[in-house]
Amino acid sequence: MKIGYIIGSLSEQSLNRGLSKVLVEEAPEDVEFFEIPIKDLPLYNRDFDANYPQIALDLKAEIEGADGIIFVTPEHNRTFSASLHNALEWASRPYGQLSLAGKPVATIGVSPSGIGTAVAQRQLRSSLLFTGALVMGQPEAYISGIQAEITPDGGINDGGREVVSQWVNAAVKFIEAHK
Ligand code: FNR
Repeated sequence: MKIGYIIGSLSEQSLNRGLSKVLVEEAPEDVEFFEIPIKDLPLYNRDFDANYPQIALDLKAEIEGADGIIFVTPEHNRTFSASLHNALEWASRPYGQLSLAGKPVATIGVSPSGIGTAVAQRQLRSSLLFTGALVMGQPEAYISGIQAEITPDGGINDGGREVVSQWVNAAVKFIEAHK
């Protein structure tokens, strides 16, 4: 099975990138994980619909070629990041060409605060459902970076690792069942 993951932070010091490293470490060995990069996508506007740039065609092809997608999202102003919004806009267009339609997906994220991206993930799930993705409902994982002691290079304490491990194994099962 091939699972793509998209990190919603562009920061070199991203805690969510650190979380993605833990996810990959804790996933079953027979699953291939690959990052779908969003950093260099230009800002979407619908004038591109007649002539999508190669980088956006690549994004769509990578999503469509994966058995499922995991979104690792930060929370920005009580929603998901602008870069992730932008990637979803590219993936959902041109009109009618929804790359995520029918695709099993799961969301996770870390923020330093106690709510650990709960609001961002609520918003993200809503957008994903609109674009036709099959969104895993349970288990949820709202990781508090302070509580789990996550670092950008993938450090995490034992309690945090256990939560991430259970979550990613459930996400892999969900994707396997719905791919
Ligand atoms: C934040 N942060 C933040 N945290 C949170 O829990 N809820 C929020 O609404 C926001 N809003 C917000 C807006 C903006 C513009 C920034 C830059 C940051 C803090 C955020 O959770 C923190 O910077 C994380 O470390 C971001 O994730 P990455 O970039 O480390 O993966």
